[in-house]
Amino acid sequence: MKQKHLIDLEYMTNAELQQTIRLAGVIKDKPDIYKHACDGKIMATLFYEPSTRTQMSFQTAMLRLGGRTIGFDDPMNSSVAKGENIKDTITVISSYSDIIAMRHPVEGSAKAASHYSSVPLINCGDGGHYHPTQTLTDVVTLSYEKGRLNNLKIGLCGDLLNGRTVHSLIKTMCRFEGNSFVLISTKELSVPQYIKDVMDKSNCKYTEVNNLRDAISDIDVLYMTRIQRERFTSEEEYEKQKGIFVLDKEKLSLAKKDMIILHPLPRVDEIAIEVDDDPRACYFKQAEYGMYGRMALILLLLREEDAFSFETVDPDFDKGLKCNNEKCIKNVPMESYLPDLTYEKDGHTYCDYCDHLIK
Ligand code: NCD
Repeated sequence: MKQKHLIDLEYMTNAELQQTIRLAGVIKDKPDIYKHACDGKIMATLFYEPSTRTQMSFQTAMLRLGGRTIGFDDPMNSSVAKGENIKDTITVISSYSDIIAMRHPVEGSAKAASHYSSVPLINCGDGGHYHPTQTLTDVVTLSYEKGRLNNLKIGLCGDLLNGRTVHSLIKTMCRFEGNSFVLISTKELSVPQYIKDVMDKSNCKYTEVNNLRDAISDIDVLYMTRIQRERFTSEEEYEKQKGIFVLDKEKLSLAKKDMIILHPLPRVDEIAIEVDDDPRACYFKQAEYGMYGRMALILLLLREEDAFSFETVDPDFDKGLKCNNEKCIKNVPMESYLPDLTYEKDGHTYCDYCDHLIK
């Protein structure tokens, strides 16, 4: 049997996603049932990039299921500092552990790592590409706080170019009927083309605007995001983009009474602290839902019988086409052993690691 991994939520069908959300709800209500479910199991958390919630919620998820954790949160304390590549690290760590949760700053790194892992590998964020377990967190929150995953008008605001949580969320919400998106950003930080392609191909409509005040009045969910300072090529570019969109009480007074505000966190200045006490502010609750979602995911990935397949289409090997995304793992010199992997979709060829259009 092929190893199960979670690189993107595409690896789950809608029914499987709903089942995971239901399981997260049961775990939340009856945690005692699951407190020995992972006895004897070890999770490795490999965080090549800073994290508070994702890393700690995976660790606490495993501990609450009775399992244990190993790992690093500063690659400079591991052999990565000596120049070890992803292949070698993952080959070895997967022989020490039963499941791996990995975050890495380079796009496509999770997919690359999964090829060398003999245990399930979970993508906890690969550069500005995807962040599926944040999306799992978001859909668990939407299901329990809004009561549905369809017919929602979702406003996404901030750094839509580099915000991987935005990319994964749009992709997933496009799979449900009747959703539409209001994309609120500067021109420079608008969503990348491959995400526009996903929206264009689904029946979900979207508009792009640059004013939060004008957009806020008829949306059901406002997803605020941080300007991703670490993904900018210069501090000067970041300075031009920071502080443009700020949700404060005054703007919130124009929103629907039942709108909910989400944010993957950490917040910098895009939501004023005064908003925290508004009943529509769901971002702290959201972080807690994330822990239950991750507990459900660990259970499903470690379950041997009757589990989901977590499968996607097999890529094409070395067709002589190279990824030209300079942020892709395939173009990192020390990872040059990786084969060129591509897939075809709607007459186009995409890189199988980072999903960028090749031709
Ligand atoms: C997000 C991330 O790392 O992409 N944080 C998280 O995992 N909750 C968002 C961010 O860093 O802005």
